[in-house]
Amino acid sequence: MTTHRIQVMVCTGTGCVSNHAFEIRDAFEREIKKNNLQTEAAVITTGCNGFCGAGPLVVVQPDGIFYQLLKVSDIPHLVAEHFLKGRPVKKLMYIPPEEKTPIPKMSEIPFFADQTLIALRNRGMIDPEKIEDYIGRGGYKAIAKVLTSMKPEEVVTEIKASGLRGRGGGGFPTGVKWESCKKAHGTAKYVICNADEGDPGAFMDRSIVEGDPHSVIEGMLIGAYAIENVTQGFIYVRMQYPLAIHRFEVAIKQAREYGLLGKNIFDKGFDFDIEIRRGAGAFVCGESTALMTSIEGKVGEPRAKYIHTVEKGLWDCPTCLNNVETWANVPQIILKGAKWFSSIGTGDVSVDPWGGSKGTKVFSLAGKVNNTGLVEVPMGITMRDIIYKVGGGIPEGKKFKAVQTGGPSGGFIPETLLDLPVDYEELAKVGSMMGSGGMLVTDEENCMVDMAKYFLSFTQDESCGKCIPCREGTKRMLDILDKITMGKGSEEDLVMLEELSSMVVESSLCALGGSAPNPVLTSMKYFREEYEAHVRDKKCPAHVCKPLIKYSIDENVCIQVGHGCDVCRKQCIDNAIIGEKNQAHRIDPSKCGKCGICYDVCKFDAIHIE
Ligand code: SF4
Ligand code: SF4
Ligand code: FES
Repeated sequence: MTTHRIQVMVCTGTGCVSNHAFEIRDAFEREIKKNNLQTEAAVITTGCNGFCGAGPLVVVQPDGIFYQLLKVSDIPHLVAEHFLKGRPVKKLMYIPPEEKTPIPKMSEIPFFADQTLIALRNRGMIDPEKIEDYIGRGGYKAIAKVLTSMKPEEVVTEIKASGLRGRGGGGFPTGVKWESCKKAHGTAKYVICNADEGDPGAFMDRSIVEGDPHSVIEGMLIGAYAIENVTQGFIYVRMQYPLAIHRFEVAIKQAREYGLLGKNIFDKGFDFDIEIRRGAGAFVCGESTALMTSIEGKVGEPRAKYIHTVEKGLWDCPTCLNNVETWANVPQIILKGAKWFSSIGTGDVSVDPWGGSKGTKVFSLAGKVNNTGLVEVPMGITMRDIIYKVGGGIPEGKKFKAVQTGGPSGGFIPETLLDLPVDYEELAKVGSMMGSGGMLVTDEENCMVDMAKYFLSFTQDESCGKCIPCREGTKRMLDILDKITMGKGSEEDLVMLEELSSMVVESSLCALGGSAPNPVLTSMKYFREEYEAHVRDKKCPAHVCKPLIKYSIDENVCIQVGHGCDVCRKQCIDNAIIGEKNQAHRIDPSKCGKCGICYDVCKFDAIHIE
């Protein structure tokens, strides 16, 4: 860690890198040199801060001044004003929507203020490519503690008592899983980190790996020691995450150089090493058995789980698989204790490890919400607080409609359930799930039938095709949704859709098929009237399904208020608008492609959608 008076923490997560974060870093280095500030100011590259929409962003420590949407041309002024004259630059700070006063400190920006960081504890604070930075923040202390003062069974007991549950989707109690793998017969056992995050728009795991890869490695070390007879671990990460792969590679190399991976770690006779396996990006390979088959070099297809993978997993050996976020929590539990961890969250896990949801959860907040990005919040927080406090509410004063949790196979939760505490059981009760942490907010302009169709088309496309209910059932469901959104659906189709959904849930081989109908089932449950409007009235209330909407011009308003301004006609790409300047305009429905441009450009509200 640097001892400079000023530390310029430049975010170099994927989002900021794609917005030229490395050029921003270079510009800071140039200006610092130009102003002879090398002994006072250091530039440090960090992982994702979670607020990617504000990138490229920089946090100036130790005061935590947050600068956003930076351009290379901003840097000379910023360095001169802030670093030389001690005057932070207001115009480069964050301003909340619909307000005028900037918030200088990162910790006071609502998006960050209401978060509780455990898995993301080093977010923005370390250079992920420097093991010294991780160690400087207490890294590898937990494995040292475990190896020097705890028996393997004590570690398992601690993780069980903490109430940590799998963050990858299933929510299986981690300590119980470790215990089963420990008890399973086998001289060779494996631990695996599932970094095959495939939910569209979700990047919880990528962000942890890009920002703090050693926390995952340390978690795996602790798991391997606790389970025993584990000398090899695997990280399964998709090819589409090149920066995450690079940072894992660097971290593994450094850990080996420090003697933290390899033979006789801490001189305790404990051998453990990690290899990276790259996946091709199939969604189904996030499923544990498909993932293991893929590591074995075969086609990544799931298998029935009547024999658990903790008994017969990778190469038929006992295998413990946890996802990135689960592993990243482990060192903190060892250092701060199970009691501390289980004091956060819902329920009671002292007797039953399924009795509550403990610790925090990282969510990828996306869609119709002001502050999109990555948030880590305590279990038990309400959905309303996530969306309105952390997320800053719905943009442009629009009305909230539903939030979908759990990725493409999660369910929609309506406004009446917004005060629901976020935990595994509560989400399941209302037809949704925690999943790995995708959270998509929709507003009044989203059609729920269309949304259900969108998510089903994703899961249908990603079905590996091994079992008929998933392969064919989801296809038939999609056909029906297509019919409904085309205005050709009937009441019988709704009945059939529900029946097919139940059949796919009950008879699919793996969790992909078993959960794929969730968006359909929950949207039908909570937004039935929208389905009925599509099939009975042939109308799309949200004006999304094109075959069911019609654009028209109120000729009186057009001529009397807008004086036939002609703006819409010039913008119409289909030449569907008839009229001339100073005349009333009208739309030729036979030509109209329903793009909505005219509706957006008419300043006089003369254009209507029915
Ligand atoms: S909706 Fe699009 S295609 Fe139709 S009239 Fe308006 S601009 Fe033209
Ligand atoms: S933009 Fe509006 S007011 Fe202007 S010509 Fe078109 S419909 Fe009329
Ligand atoms: S990549 Fe910079 S905030 Fe996410």
